Amino acid sequence: MKTKDKSESSWNLSPAPESTDHIQLKKRYEHFINGKFVKPVKGKYFATINPATEVKLAEVAEGTIEDVNKAVNAARSAYENVWSVMPALERAKYIYRIARMIQERAKEFAIIESLDGGKPIRESRDIDIPLAANHFFYHAGWADKLEYAFPNKNPQPLGVVGQIIPWNFPLLMASWKIAPALATGNTVILKPAETTPLTALKLAELIQDSGLPDGVVNIITGAGETGAAIVNHPEINKIAFTGSTQVGKIINKTVAGTQKKVTLELGGKAANIIFEDAAIDQAVEGIVNGIYFNQGHVCCAGSRLFVQESIFETVVKKLKHRLESLIVGDPLDKNTDVGAINSKEQLKTINDYIEIGKQEGALMYQSSCTLPSKGNWCKPTLFLNVSQSHTIAQEEIFGPVLAIQTFRTIEEVISKANNTPYGLSAGVWTDKGSKIFNLTHQLQAGVIWANTYNKFDPASPFGGYKESGLGREGGLHGLAAYLNLK
Ligand code: NAI
Ligand code: MG
Repeated sequence: MKTKDKSESSWNLSPAPESTDHIQLKKRYEHFINGKFVKPVKGKYFATINPATEVKLAEVAEGTIEDVNKAVNAARSAYENVWSVMPALERAKYIYRIARMIQERAKEFAIIESLDGGKPIRESRDIDIPLAANHFFYHAGWADKLEYAFPNKNPQPLGVVGQIIPWNFPLLMASWKIAPALATGNTVILKPAETTPLTALKLAELIQDSGLPDGVVNIITGAGETGAAIVNHPEINKIAFTGSTQVGKIINKTVAGTQKKVTLELGGKAANIIFEDAAIDQAVEGIVNGIYFNQGHVCCAGSRLFVQESIFETVVKKLKHRLESLIVGDPLDKNTDVGAINSKEQLKTINDYIEIGKQEGALMYQSSCTLPSKGNWCKPTLFLNVSQSHTIAQEEIFGPVLAIQTFRTIEEVISKANNTPYGLSAGVWTDKGSKIFNLTHQLQAGVIWANTYNKFDPASPFGGYKESGLGREGGLHGLAAYLNLK
């Protein structure tokens, strides 16, 4: 039950942690190749830890070129002999079965996601895992209807695809990658991020149980070098990558001039724009959701807030008040709003940006919450007195840090919002439909939310302008990216 603390704005809730009793984690995880768990050729392993406690959760195989070769051979053989020749309706049944099994095991996936990555259980339970299942359901539906999706185009699979994903939405990104690849008749080599491999490996167990033919999905774990071994492999027909713009650029250079297709989903520095005619309380909730959701580990995070001058003081006051009531702490506690920062490295990156923000003259405000003594934590932070040239207004921080600026006119906010090398997403808060349409036409962003934020759906394509990426995932556009269309 909620009881109000002495200090007016903070809540004192009894701890309500999710039990981990029924979670089964092996001490050691091997690669998943050709339907079996296989020891790494070089015999090396690395640890994955719980970023909230620094406790080691498991050891995971470190993939080398030799392991990637095995996975590519398995995927090629599965592609040629089984998956690409199977009637599409039969393929659909497997994809549908995987979706159902994710639902059945949702609780286990949610807890492991929060343990391994540090995100609040409320998010992994209500967002990550259900959306992951939805992606498989959605794509199961398309598998036998590709001719209707792309009439007169003779849609054909590409072959073997290599997929490299980040640590911010581990199972969800695995689903975004695997589901459309399977629906279009391709086979897969997936590499999860080195700090969050466990739900992908649990998915491998589920795939084994689903009876999906051996070699259709292979999962190789490791860090950047393992990813590079996949990108460089000559027998892979497409690379799908989600991660930093820096690595995205390397990948794009590597595949240039080869037959490989590529899609890149990279960083962002989204503008969240709030007009004086907006429903202010709703907008404040949306702003909080936009940047503090998942500790700001979101490529489409609303990290730049633009407030119309007349409502600036009201919005800042409400935001500061809301910051105080955010509960930061144990990711497994159902009351937690802001969990642990994914890694020590990411925490350092965020703290460095906070320092730079202060040094460049912006005014910092942080929640007065106390942080746990162990683990990686960052207080929800906002900056005032920010100008366009400030580093914190230009570069992706990927943490719970909001840079606030003001504007007077629509023209001004559009030019400020577009003044960034990125263009992944944006948010607009206003009572006027005409303003929404005006802005959505002029903002250079792949996804624009109106009077809401961070809403995802498998049917709507996702992807960026400029340095935010190349190509789209989700919807028909995402399917097309896994097909040869004549
Ligand atoms: P990263 O881009 O290095 O990692 C993403 C994935 O790529 C991981 O699976 C990693 O092992 C793999 N990888 C790394 N180097 C590679 C290479 N040379 N070839 C192939 N694969 C490679 O991102 P990192 O270092 O974890 O985070 C750095 C910054 O990137 C963050 O601070 C954030 O700003 C941004 N980022 C953006 C994400 C997004 O969703 N757009 C996701 C994760 C990070
Ligand atoms: Mg971990």
